[in-house]
Amino acid sequence: MHNAQPWRFQYTRSNGTFSLFADLTRAMPHSDPTARGLHIGCGAALFNLRVAASHIGLRPVTRLLPDPAVPELLATVRLDEPADRTDGLALLYPAVHDRHSSRAPFADRRIPDEVRQALSEAAHQESATLALPTGSHLQTVLDLINDAEGYDHMDAAREAETEQWARSATDEAAVDGVPEYAFGPLKRGGSAPARDFAGRVPVNGRTRTVFEDRPQLALLSTAQDEPADWLRAGQALERVLLIATLHGLSSSFATQALEWPDLRWVLRDPLSGTGQVQMVVRLGYGPTGPQTPRRPVAHVLTVED
Ligand SMILES: Cc1cc2nc3c(=O)[nH]c(=O)nc-3n(C[C@H](O)[C@H](O)[C@H](O)COP(=O)(O)O)c2cc1C
Repeated sequence: MHNAQPWRFQYTRSNGTFSLFADLTRAMPHSDPTARGLHIGCGAALFNLRVAASHIGLRPVTRLLPDPAVPELLATVRLDEPADRTDGLALLYPAVHDRHSSRAPFADRRIPDEVRQALSEAAHQESATLALPTGSHLQTVLDLINDAEGYDHMDAAREAETEQWARSATDEAAVDGVPEYAFGPLKRGGSAPARDFAGRVPVNGRTRTVFEDRPQLALLSTAQDEPADWLRAGQALERVLLIATLHGLSSSFATQALEWPDLRWVLRDPLSGTGQVQMVVRLGYGPTGPQTPRRPVAHVLTVED
């Protein structure tokens, strides 16, 4: 969330195991007080580790929250041989480098059914569900995001938190946060939701443009709403995004309504009424987003014997 990268990996050579820890100094107490979003981000990073292990021919054996006494220890991944080629992980590897959030407008071109099916299967493989709402449900989701933006504007502490992670064009040394070049254009019209990281601060040379009128949003849900479910949701999110990337789709997020418990509750599918919505993803055909900074490996990985 906000490119905070709230994770720390430790690799132990003797047992060939990675431990993934939450870095709580990078939590967001105002927009993410339960650390649900933090777990989702770490789940996505965990999924990329599994993909990378498969890419080099090893089988990642993953355990979520292996030690209840240490809640910051989110997962362990033991690298076994040989890789299980049936889970499709290794095929996703190129997309790890190609996927970026794209906060630009997308074309009004419908995602074909077979691609929707592939995205939904990807979520299922990681014990989550993906739904692309239409009609009145889609309108409800858009209205709730709009309401959430209104709530956000009235919450100075939240706005300050977002601004704290926005990086100006001159901050070339930044290794985290959302850089100005990734903000995307200002919205002049259209109904697609886009979080504006600029807040109230004007950005030099930023264009205004019309976004798509019929955004294609996907709701990613899990059956329960515990920390392990958030980690599953993060892994499912990354699998969906990598498959989307391989199919030539761009993606961004609109999670504003998930950050207000009363609005999050109403987001759920009115027909099934089950499941806990964990992410709202905007998918479509459009420009690929720019690469954003990452913390150097030495900051996030320690290796011990
Ligand atoms: C839990 C969570 C919530 C997020 N919500 C939003 C959002 O509402 N709007 C947005 O533009 N990006 C959102 N993001 C995306 C991050 O800002 C983005 O992944 C990060 O800045 C890194 O950039 P990249 O996706 O291009 O690698 C969210 C990410 C996570 C994990």
